[in-house]
Amino acid sequence: MKRLRHLVEAQQLTPEHITYLCAQADELRKGHNETLAGKILAAVFYEPSTRTRFSFESAMKRLGGDVISTENAAEFSSAIKGETLPDSIRIIAGYAHAIVLRHKEEGSSQLAASISPVPIINAGDGRGQHPTQALLDVYTIRRELGSSHGLRVGMVGDLKHGRTVRSLTYLLSKEPQEELVFIAPPELAMGNDIKAHLTEHGTTWRETPEFERELPKLDVIYMTRIQKERMDPKTYEGNKDRYRLGSDELTLVKPKARVMHPLPKIDEIQIPIEIEQKDPRIAYFRQAENGLYMRMALLLHMLQ
Ligand code: NCD
Repeated sequence: MKRLRHLVEAQQLTPEHITYLCAQADELRKGHNETLAGKILAAVFYEPSTRTRFSFESAMKRLGGDVISTENAAEFSSAIKGETLPDSIRIIAGYAHAIVLRHKEEGSSQLAASISPVPIINAGDGRGQHPTQALLDVYTIRRELGSSHGLRVGMVGDLKHGRTVRSLTYLLSKEPQEELVFIAPPELAMGNDIKAHLTEHGTTWRETPEFERELPKLDVIYMTRIQKERMDPKTYEGNKDRYRLGSDELTLVKPKARVMHPLPKIDEIQIPIEIEQKDPRIAYFRQAENGLYMRMALLLHMLQ
């Protein structure tokens, strides 16, 4: 297995990488590891983040390493003065052993990787990709369902602007699946590039705007937020209440299926906390926690 130099898009991950990183994440859950002592990770986020930034920072510290970051690179770094991304990356690369980058422009991580002397990890590039989220999603599916193949996976919501579903689709297409079902209104449909990739790789897929009708058939229900910041207000208003998973809809979900969400969830999930806490089908909080161990595994792989 080749060590990843940068992680920009999910297509770079081979089945061997995925299996290795899942096994490492399981190991790292169990105990102490200070292998990255003396190493510094720069967390450079030009867009808001809770889980991704905190889990990367926690992961680096738990591995004995250190983190430098700015709360909001768009506002508090020299970007506001007009410094270009490549200049910022060149400078930060002189201070850190790796850079986790989140940026509003699609392709920004690719650009950063093309000039950076240290590893770049894409933590979300606009509506492009979010490969570490896809890794933790597959890790979660394997832990929850025992494997990540032969499944009927439904992705629900804003599939046009959501980067998590794009990266996840690439990873799921590396194994044989029963079917991928893209549940979205036509104006927020999954991109043609992804659908062409699936067809080319022989993965069965289908798209529909229907939600309730699909629910009883799915093994994984991957809910997403309507990406308000990436569309005009009219499109947002017209779609924000389109899909909701509440207690009633949950009765349609198979007993062994899992409900996932990259979070933050807004109105699309309306399940009372008591049910969220005890119904084993609700996996999104465990999913968020898995992100910590998967990001530890990835940092070890790339920086050791
Ligand atoms: C996602 C993102 O930033 O793309 N959040 C995350 O990293 N868990 C999903 C979202 O913002 O809707």
